[in-house]
Amino acid sequence: MTSILTDHDVAALRAATPGTRSAIHFNHAGSSLPSNGTLDAIRAHLLREAERGPMEAGVAARAETETARALAARLFNAQPDEIALTGGNSPGWGAAFAAFATASPWQPGDRILVGRHEWGGNLACMRLIAERAGARVETIPSDQDGCVDPEALRAMLDERVRLIALTWLPANGGLINPAAAIGAVAREHGIAYFVDAAQAVGQLPIDVEQVGCDVLAGAGRKALRGPRGTGLLYVRRDFLPRLTPAWVDTHSAPLGPDGAPMLRPDAARLESAEASLALRCGLANALREALDIGLDAIRARVDAIAQGLRTELAALPGVTVLDQGRERSGLVSFNVAGLDAPAVQRALAAQGVTIGSNGVSYTPLDMTARGLAQIARASVSYLTTQDEIGRLLDALRQLPRQG
Ligand SMILES: Cc1ncc(COP(=O)(O)O)c(C=O)c1O
Repeated sequence: MTSILTDHDVAALRAATPGTRSAIHFNHAGSSLPSNGTLDAIRAHLLREAERGPMEAGVAARAETETARALAARLFNAQPDEIALTGGNSPGWGAAFAAFATASPWQPGDRILVGRHEWGGNLACMRLIAERAGARVETIPSDQDGCVDPEALRAMLDERVRLIALTWLPANGGLINPAAAIGAVAREHGIAYFVDAAQAVGQLPIDVEQVGCDVLAGAGRKALRGPRGTGLLYVRRDFLPRLTPAWVDTHSAPLGPDGAPMLRPDAARLESAEASLALRCGLANALREALDIGLDAIRARVDAIAQGLRTELAALPGVTVLDQGRERSGLVSFNVAGLDAPAVQRALAAQGVTIGSNGVSYTPLDMTARGLAQIARASVSYLTTQDEIGRLLDALRQLPRQG
């Protein structure tokens, strides 16, 4: 396709997406809508499994399932041996974090520096594994726009900092963190740098060289429109020796002739032998479609739609848009006076409009710092139309007014 997504292109992409006919979907950040091509790729492999036997079908479709790895490498400007295919964002991020600790256990006094928007699941891993061993998890200050501040990070560094972790696009709003500027500080000081790109993959162009990360995790089901239960994990090749998986199997560490486990040299050391190959076929298709459309075109379209939605939401009485940051994503967070976010979500669902709502636990540091107990979240895709935005705004106008 061209470098711009036109209304005509979007109409064609919507026509090839069955969910656009049955839902007014504003939860693309929870999970987006797969295309017919992705559904067909999944179905085709399930059928192969049923007809030939799943193990035999797996061998026959090896080229297709490995395509996802090569396409993910293209998406990230990485090499295929730096990509692990996982079951979601947390399975990838958590496997890398646990492997980092297995290779080099946390010591009392070690420090992990995290952005204020770190995903709650990642924080749980850090607390369970690193804090129990006596390491400390500390928050890097944000600047006046709410973005993690690279200069504040620099001022915190000493020889005890072993890891910097950043959630690039937070789950609770439209802010985009300066991932490359944080990466430049990490590189300068030779500190390991993990990026949670769950919301970035498929929404922003990603160049892992530019970001300067050692590890980057992404989910298949969000902006990429891949199947639920898929994820991508990038590990920089030089960093692989610093990751010893917390557990291995016949795929990640097959036994050699002498009975010794031979840990794979590539990122697939963080995969498991058993996986849904049908979903990997679907993921490969979703990756192909995203690359065909072009990530610059996707980013430009999502940004224009989200900015427009923010302006229209802010004009509704009783609605407060909560997004911080300078550069913003397709996640639009807001609250409605007198209604809690789950009630807004339920009321809109009753009118056929799907949004998300988050409490504190997904992004506890940011929610607490901003005194927020919950947010309603309307997340857009390049598939989102002005008609759908009109339906969302109408549904919000129907809510019982208070305040
Ligand atoms: C920023 C961020 N990180 C991690 C996750 C968790 O992803 P998964 O459910 O694939 O493990 C999410 C899910 O919404 C997210 O938004």
